[in-house]
Amino acid sequence: MKRDKSWTWRRVAPSSLNLNGIKAAIVGGTGGIGRAFSRFMASRGATVVVVGQTFRDSKVPGIEFIKADLSLMREAKRVGEALPAETLDIVIFTTGVFAAPKRQETAEGIEQDMAVSYLSRLVILREIAPRLGKDRPEAKMKSRVFIMGFPGSGQAGTLDDLNAEKYYGAMRVHMNTVAGNEMLVLDAAKRYLNATFFGLNPGLIKTDIRNNFLGQDTLKSRFTEWMIGLLTPSAETYAERLTPLLVSPDLDAHSGAMFDRKGFAILPSPKLMDRSYVNAFIAASEALVSRVNVRLSS
Ligand SMILES: NC(=O)c1ccc[n+]([C@@H]2O[C@H](COP(=O)([O-])OP(=O)(O)OC[C@H]3O[C@@H](n4cnc5c(N)ncnc54)[C@H](OP(=O)(O)O)[C@@H]3O)[C@@H](O)[C@H]2O)c1
Repeated sequence: MKRDKSWTWRRVAPSSLNLNGIKAAIVGGTGGIGRAFSRFMASRGATVVVVGQTFRDSKVPGIEFIKADLSLMREAKRVGEALPAETLDIVIFTTGVFAAPKRQETAEGIEQDMAVSYLSRLVILREIAPRLGKDRPEAKMKSRVFIMGFPGSGQAGTLDDLNAEKYYGAMRVHMNTVAGNEMLVLDAAKRYLNATFFGLNPGLIKTDIRNNFLGQDTLKSRFTEWMIGLLTPSAETYAERLTPLLVSPDLDAHSGAMFDRKGFAILPSPKLMDRSYVNAFIAASEALVSRVNVRLSS
């Protein structure tokens, strides 16, 4: 991962943030890093709608819930239609799983990790992006979309086998989601000029994301997460550190930028600077979604 030293944003203390009036949606805001963001943003006055399977914050003022199984593209489409994009200031995508050791397929026939961690985001984004921020007459900044993944890490994906039908490897599949999410940012920044789009790379953080890969509550999983917890910041610390970035006025001119775990701007993965490759990857992703009869908005 390489730092982009050509620009920087002015940092402010998270404790000084006033998010009164900010409306946010966090897709994947029911657990892990997304949940840490939703709780911190709500504590600073934002109104947050979280999308996920299990709501854990019904007692927290300022957080609402949309229930959905985002392994299904038709559910993603429904969520995209239900989200009040016109009034949203900030959208964060943190939905994710990690590919299992053996290939898992959704009821719609899509590999599970690709469906949850990447394609559901593509479907939701296509629904909401054209409407984002259209109904915020007083707004000082364009609506912003933050897509979490592992951008800048050099992954380009396996363009000719996005559904892992020719060959399955958990890491290979997960890297397709990593590459896809980085390309979503780069593509959306060019495609939709009414909003701005950014990638977030949180580094390693102790959460439940690796359960599917390592096995829930196995010794291997407990040891791995314990080590990660020992060596890296918690989801709460990361979310607190990054929230000032989400509302910084300095981001407006930098749609398409990516940020590392400390919020420093980083460069995109080299292969993804090739626009024709990004176009081909996005087209193959759209083709995979259309196989399950879900029509994408433009
Ligand atoms: N943690 C890390 O070390 C790490 C490292 C690099 C990148 N990331 C990225 O950070 C993002 C967040 O990861 P995390 O570590 O916070 O993961 P996490 O703790 O497992 O949280 C994942 C979120 O996705 C939701 N989700 C999972 N399956 C779903 C489904 N079928 N339908 C609807 N929602 C579903 C979960 O909701 P429910 O609990 O309600 O099901 C939860 O809100 C991901 O994009 C991940 O790739 C994480």
